[in-house]
Formats: sequence, C-alpha cells, structure tokens
Amino acid sequence: MKKTLSVVVVFAVVGVLGAAAVLRGQDEPLDPRIAAYDKGPAKIDVSKYPAEIQSNYKVFQTKCSKCHTVARAINCEFALGDEWERYVKRMMNKAGTFISPAEGKQIYDFAVYDSKTRKKALYDRKLKEAGK
Ligand code: HEC
Repeated sequence: MKKTLSVVVVFAVVGVLGAAAVLRGQDEPLDPRIAAYDKGPAKIDVSKYPAEIQSNYKVFQTKCSKCHTVARAINCEFALGDEWERYVKRMMNKAGTFISPAEGKQIYDFAVYDSKTRKKALYDRKLKEAGK
C-alpha cells in the first residue's frame, strides 16, 4: 500500500513538471523588445540581391518561421557576422535536425548580406562600436 502511494506521488510530480515545461515553452511572457520584432514587416525585398542570396532567403523564410514569425528574424537588431553566427547556432540548437548545418550556413550568409545592405546604418554603427 505504501509502495503504491509513493509510485502515484512520483507520477504526479513527473506529470506536473512535464506540464510546467510545456507551458514554459509556450506561455513564457515574451520580452517586449522581441514582441515588437514580431509585429514588424514579415518580408524583405530581395529583388536586387544576388541570385544565390535570393535562394538563401527562401531557406531563411522557411526555417526561421517554424517557432515564431519570420518577422522576428527580419526586425531584430543582429547585424554583425559574429552576432549572427552565435544566434543562428542558438536557433539550430533549439531546432534539432530541422535546420541542417548546410541550411544554417545559407541562413547565416543571407543574414549577413542582408545586414550589410538593408540594415547598413545599424551594421556600420555596430562595426564602429566594436572597433573593427
Ligand atoms: C525551434 C524553434 C525555433 C526556430 C526553428 C527558430 N527560432 Fe528564433 N527563437 C526561438 C525562441 C524560443 C526565441 C525566444 C528567445 C530565445 O530563446 O532566444 C527565439 C528568438 C529569436 C530572436 C530574438 C532574439 C533577441 O534576443 O533579440 C531572433 C532574432 C530569432 N529567434 C531568429 C531566428 C532565426 C534567424 C531563425 C532561423 C535560423 C530562428 N529564429 C529559428 C525559437 C526558434
């Protein structure tokens, strides 16, 4: 009887922790800064970008819109190569096999090109701040 009770208690605890983990993933209040990115434009005009970058953009659009809108990735404040490297890796870790290393590289190439072009002012300012 005592043993049955402790088994039940263990299952209840595991259940509560599991539910809490699921809720944390979905309902964690979003940083207001990140929420603002989500509300910005969800498209980039890539018509003047080189063909290879345009095809990388397609990978970016599909892979970076799975868990949040692609607007988050479009309107964020990352610009420099090392910022993108760190963040694409972070997103790849979250995504498991959904983003392959080759796709991660395409996304990185797109994000850096786009930062130097569309976000040029931000890119130049950050470069200067970094003393590069
Ligand atoms: C597996 C789910 C998942 C995928 C796929 C994903 N993200 Fe995210 N992303 C998140 C979560 C969760 C957050 C919330 C903040 C955090 O944990 O960094 C986030 C936050 C962000 C932010 C805001 C970071 C900040 O602090 O300003 C950016 C930018 C971003 N993601 C870009 C991307 C890009 C680019 C891709 C495609 C390579 C991508 N995400 C793919 C889950 C994902």
